[in-house]
Amino acid sequence: MAGKNTGFSQRSAWAADQPIGFLMQKALEHPQLVSLAAGFVDQASLPVEAARSAALSVLEDPALARAALQYGTTAGDPVLRTQILERLRGLDGPAAPGAKLDQVLLTAGSNQVLWLLADALLNPGDVVLCDAPTYFVFMGIVRNMGARAVGIASDVHGMRPEALEAELEAFAARGELDRVKAIYVVSYFDNPRSVSLSAARRAQVCELAKRYSRQRTLYVIEDAAYRELRFRGADEKSVRSYDREGTHVIYAGTFSKSFSPGVRVGYGVLPESLVTPLLELKGNLDFGSPHFNQRMISKVMERGLYGPHVQTLCDVYERKQRAMLHALDAELGTPGLARYLRPDGGLYVWVELLGGVDTGSRSKLFANAIEEGVLYVPGEYCFTDLTSAPRSFMRLSFGVQSEPRIAEGVQRLACAIKRARD
Ligand SMILES: Cc1ncc(COP(=O)(O)O)c(C=O)c1O
Repeated sequence: MAGKNTGFSQRSAWAADQPIGFLMQKALEHPQLVSLAAGFVDQASLPVEAARSAALSVLEDPALARAALQYGTTAGDPVLRTQILERLRGLDGPAAPGAKLDQVLLTAGSNQVLWLLADALLNPGDVVLCDAPTYFVFMGIVRNMGARAVGIASDVHGMRPEALEAELEAFAARGELDRVKAIYVVSYFDNPRSVSLSAARRAQVCELAKRYSRQRTLYVIEDAAYRELRFRGADEKSVRSYDREGTHVIYAGTFSKSFSPGVRVGYGVLPESLVTPLLELKGNLDFGSPHFNQRMISKVMERGLYGPHVQTLCDVYERKQRAMLHALDAELGTPGLARYLRPDGGLYVWVELLGGVDTGSRSKLFANAIEEGVLYVPGEYCFTDLTSAPRSFMRLSFGVQSEPRIAEGVQRLACAIKRARD
């Protein structure tokens, strides 16, 4: 309400108008919608048995059960932190920089790592460079701090290093380089496109962060939320593994996508410089995330249940992705209607509509889609500046809907698109 002094903080105003709120409201107003918008995971493959047996084993020994039902430490369960380091060593190989146990921080989902990093690094007016497009919730966090996300051109191989360098040079030329605090990359099967940063660019992004760390460190926030949802091809080494000294890259990981978002266990592997600031902030926030959940995930890993579950999930999502692409080919495959990527993993298909059809939240198409009974994420939300964002993209998620519902959703979407073109 313009002019009214609510007494709420400036940060509360900066937090307003998030796309997620708008999309949830639409889903609630129209419960019959097939939501291809929600980033939820597959329902049928949620690991009920693995979670049950792990939870029971946490509760088996009364002394250990009581420990798990008690508060833990701010940094989180040391056994799980050790297992995370071992798993990362397995993925990245021995050449990756080592990390001590105290560099691993357990959180309630990796979103909390992103929040804590933003809180630790950003003053009002500061800048984070990120892909255009990128994970819109992260941009909301940046805004929440009064800071600014600046989009860097990005293609099917991820952020373009020459565009990143040009932007860093531009800040340097204006004498504002010290405003740029971090480069944010979703390095595997990103949100919204399921695009991964290529190996060559991982090295270049890391090198640029180091080269432009002039007065102080320019960090790289590597968000690896979708790393383990790979259906085809071999895993890439993390961006962190190119940071030989382990000083510049923060690795944010999560069990939400690869196990269960309801358990909400995430983690950050931090350069030593960030350990104390993040622990202090987390001390004020919640002085430790749910201990029981951490013990449960640790048991899942100890009992060898994690790897096989991830493999099952990859099979499930490969089938679901195929169902979505098949439906898109059938409904929008006619040349001139749409273009979309066929990624090797992740949860999303990023669709570009051709012929000038507007996908924005106020467009005829968005209204048509709701009338037809389908919801998508307007691509504009994934760009840093809503007013100049391209309005030809949409993010479709194949995570939560069944294969028949995916086909149904795409059919409804195609009807909405055809009506919008008329
Ligand atoms: C790119 C990305 N990063 C981080 C997250 C946060 O996940 P969580 O907090 O559940 O670990 C998400 C969730 O959708 C995501 O898409």
